[in-house]
Amino acid sequence: MVAVEDAGVGRDDERARIDVFLTGGDDEPRTLLLEGEPGIGKTTLWQAGVESAQRQGRRVLRAQPAESERSLSYAALDDLIRAVYDDVRDDLPAPQQDALDAALLRSAGTANARTIGSALVSVLAATGREQPVLVAVDDAQWLDLASAHALEFAARRLPAGVQLLLARRPEGPKLDIGTVERIELGPLSLAALHHVLRSSLGAAPARPTLLRIAATAGGNPFFALEIARTLDRPDELGGPLPVPSSLQELVADRIDSLSPAARDAALVVAALSRPTVQTVGVPPEVLAEAEAAGVLVVELDRIRFTHPLLASVVYRAAGGTQRLELHRRLADVVDDPDQPARHLSLCTTPPDETTAAELEAAAASAARRDPPPSISGSATFSTEVSSE
Ligand SMILES: Nc1ncnc2c1ncn2[C@@H]1O[C@H](COP(=O)(O)OP(=O)(O)OP(=O)(O)O)[C@@H](O)[C@H]1O
Ligand SMILES: [Mg+2]
Repeated sequence: MVAVEDAGVGRDDERARIDVFLTGGDDEPRTLLLEGEPGIGKTTLWQAGVESAQRQGRRVLRAQPAESERSLSYAALDDLIRAVYDDVRDDLPAPQQDALDAALLRSAGTANARTIGSALVSVLAATGREQPVLVAVDDAQWLDLASAHALEFAARRLPAGVQLLLARRPEGPKLDIGTVERIELGPLSLAALHHVLRSSLGAAPARPTLLRIAATAGGNPFFALEIARTLDRPDELGGPLPVPSSLQELVADRIDSLSPAARDAALVVAALSRPTVQTVGVPPEVLAEAEAAGVLVVELDRIRFTHPLLASVVYRAAGGTQRLELHRRLADVVDDPDQPARHLSLCTTPPDETTAAELEAAAASAARRDPPPSISGSATFSTEVSSE
């Protein structure tokens, strides 16, 4: 058995359970769900499970949807099967090929939800014939609805040699995926938190401070790290510990400490599904400030948040007017064909003629990908506006 390693500290039981799951046969439970509050360590453990599966020779099909991608039909399905689809496409019946081609925007055909579900099962079966497969989805609470339906269908019909590892926050609609094995992540121990703080920040606070951090954070490593960050100035080390009422508040404070330009850049990044230096379009020093504050990370031309929680806080904190202006602005700059209309559809006031036309075009494109949860809503809205 290959042990799940590098999953951080203090998760020995959970790691052992993932090991047992990964080595289970087809008659054992084949879906494992990691559940827990924001920042508790789901992604850390999920990633360790993925790496362990790879070491065992499994083919890992993975998706990590972002909150801002929830309205993009089949975005997650595309992520999951992109790497194998070309290899197995010829094994699929023609209607399934046509449906998947449409869902993945490779053709102008129609994507019926029922056919897509069967097509996903076929893709998994064909891939599983070559080598064992782990379908791994992190942040499943942010799956777009169309991909979620396909995954639900496939999860109840997993072909031989295929397992499913999901991580999700408890919030939001549950996936209807039949019998699953579930690991609920609880608080980390004091020793584990000590280790997390020391390895992430270079030094751990003295024990009395550590005890107070652990109590305030409720054993949540992300919360503990955020608290410890606020203590990084020497004069605060011996001073009173700020008592944030919640992790959200603490993250919001960190965002508030940015300059207005860096905050604005962070909001643009939060609103885009694939933000790049070019689309965000701010001076390098602004990005450098957000990077130095541990909010954004720039990798080549891609920009991402250091943690998805920061993106949620930034996006939710923006007022309606600010979002309206932002999405109008983004509709002009993004190059993904579905994105301009999506940004316009997120505006909170009735769209003008151009918007209605954009929305209709997007709806026509999205109609090929049934069910089109958010864009179909846009189509109705667009029609109402046009007929006024
Ligand atoms: N067992 C662990 N050992 C070391 N560090 C950890 C551990 N668990 C979590 N962390 C650290 O805590 C932070 C939050 O962890 P993670 O991103 O895995 O949480 P999450 O549950 O996926 O959060 P979210 O719900 O927001 O996605 C990360 O910086 C991670 O490195
Ligand atoms: Mg996570």
